[in-house]
Amino acid sequence: MKKFYVTTPIYYVNSVPHAGHALTMMACDVVKRYHQMLGAETVFLTGTDENGLKVMEAATTAGETTQAFVDRISATFAECASDIGTDVDIFFRTSSSRHREAAQALFKVLQDAGHIYVDKYEGWYDVSSETFVKESEVVDGKSPDGNEVRWVSEENYFFRLSAFAEPLLAKVESEPDWISPEGRRNEVVSFIKQGLRDMCISRSNPGWGIPVPGDDSKVIYVWFDALINYLAASGWPNEGWQELWPADIHWMGKEILTRFHATLWPAMLMGAGLPLPKAVVAHGWFTFNEAKMSKSTGNVLSHGEIIDFFVKYGCTREMAVEALRFSLIRVLPFEGDSNFTLDEIAKNFNADLANDLGNALNRSLSMVHKFADGVVPSDAPEADLVARVVSLREAAAAHFATHRYNLALDSGLEVVRELNRYIADAQPWNLAKNNDPRLSAVLATMLFMLRGAEGMMRPFMPMAANELARQLGYSASDHLTEWTKIGEPATMNPGAKVLEPSPMFPRIDLKLMEAEKPKETTPPAPAPAKKEKPKFEPPAEIDITDFLKVKLQVARILEAEPVEGSHKLVKLQVILGDERRQILAGIKASYDPLDLVGRQVIVVANLKPAKLMGHESQGMILAADGPDGQAILLTPEVEAPEGTSVH
Ligand code: ME8
Ligand code: MG
Repeated sequence: MKKFYVTTPIYYVNSVPHAGHALTMMACDVVKRYHQMLGAETVFLTGTDENGLKVMEAATTAGETTQAFVDRISATFAECASDIGTDVDIFFRTSSSRHREAAQALFKVLQDAGHIYVDKYEGWYDVSSETFVKESEVVDGKSPDGNEVRWVSEENYFFRLSAFAEPLLAKVESEPDWISPEGRRNEVVSFIKQGLRDMCISRSNPGWGIPVPGDDSKVIYVWFDALINYLAASGWPNEGWQELWPADIHWMGKEILTRFHATLWPAMLMGAGLPLPKAVVAHGWFTFNEAKMSKSTGNVLSHGEIIDFFVKYGCTREMAVEALRFSLIRVLPFEGDSNFTLDEIAKNFNADLANDLGNALNRSLSMVHKFADGVVPSDAPEADLVARVVSLREAAAAHFATHRYNLALDSGLEVVRELNRYIADAQPWNLAKNNDPRLSAVLATMLFMLRGAEGMMRPFMPMAANELARQLGYSASDHLTEWTKIGEPATMNPGAKVLEPSPMFPRIDLKLMEAEKPKETTPPAPAPAKKEKPKFEPPAEIDITDFLKVKLQVARILEAEPVEGSHKLVKLQVILGDERRQILAGIKASYDPLDLVGRQVIVVANLKPAKLMGHESQGMILAADGPDGQAILLTPEVEAPEGTSVH
């Protein structure tokens, strides 16, 4: 039988995981557990992306062999997955022989089908030594041998991505649920409508990576190989892969949807005649200190810090993990981004878990002890509240179907809020005082609602759901693990003894927290002092003719790599109409080079070429100066053809 298969991106091992990576893992874990409750066999894949120059360079910087380095960092991602309580079935690594086999096999299938061809690729050439020199090896215009280098072309492998624009567009437009959220799908549509360019999918072999089949001088471009991981994990091309493939959901952050998961990857699958993933879903970013949380800038909050925070303020370690899980999903960014700070986390925790859930549980169990000797009454729960729980269960199911797990979580919380309202209305203490016979049905209804909350919580906080069931007097074999039984009066345990309430999520003392100055209220470390440059002051007024001398054009970034030995510079290859340019930009501190690829920017196209750290720069990219000195790139509000002039 086909299994339910959900995946995170496989993470780069250039540095360790943080709450952003934990978020995608959590989304997958939650939807996996939900499908398990629906009775499916489920497989959750996460893992690490270990090929590519970026990783090799990080290993060199760390002074380790590449293999030792990737082993060490990959293990931190596996630890993260287990620390946050996710139930990973496949932790996939692209340095594995399984992956190499599948990546080479898919390359070959596409090559045999005529979707891959050899063409010239531009690069530096050391004429004296007759060798190609990698971009990163050019220093001051010289090769490592000290020879002049020349910009020439090398033969490389190209994937005929352009041929897939039409079928991709047809797929995206005819199946509106294939790519979510809707805003992102619209971006994908306009990206494809502009036409897709064939993609260079090989690099000269640096001694790390997956060789192109039949040509050891080249390795497969890291993105081309990385995407294949999802299929490789199914065992493809060996038998049995259909049990897993196609994936039911590929989850990822928004930055790798358009160019990779919504175009390149499905085109590769189409070319190979393989089924496409059933849903491709991108979440927004966690921001921290108002900037994208990112390991390259060090602006991060880690899952470990959040767990320690909950422990410090009174949770057991087990419940601290549950509180982290809740915190991540509670603010799951969908169309937009979510700011993620300990202040917000603490407020949400207090409101939803300490107050709403805590009160509902505490009051219900206390009253059952006080008014019914702690025994679950055999009365039927009230019909309108049974109907209410069933309708909240159905609402949650609808939110799961549209990937809005934060809303599904909220439907679960609504059950406890409803219970608190019910208690306030029914006033069981007055019923007891007046010996009202309705009392035991009211108590039964309260316990029934908590039983529903247990089921609704289970995909999100499985250990907390177990603890809730335990306090309600259920044994481990009687946990509510079937989704469709949520709201079933028959799942109750009349005659059983409930426990004395014991708080799972003690309230965080916000005043104490304030006094102790948590991490995010301390301002980010000041940027290292810069050499004072004489500041250029533009004249107070210029003529329109002065302005018209500046040729501004829309360009798209095709490639981006950090300039070695520079803290600031990124080397970009951009396309401007029919022309290709190399431009150096001082934006390394603000942007991860890989996140730049595919973006549109505005370029000063008639600036005299200049040499920066030995690299020619043929233009300038426009960016605003952010308040903290960071660069903020200017991008056309909607995509415009490359080369479009700007006034
Ligand atoms: O892109 N907010 O790996 P990567 C939300 N290896 N999610 C975040 C985040 C944040 N601030 N930071 C990271 C790669 N993520 C490639 C993927 S797949 C075939 C290859 C999450 O280490 C989010 O899921 O840069 C994002 O897409 C992913 O980590 C990027 O991880
Ligand atoms: Mg990234």
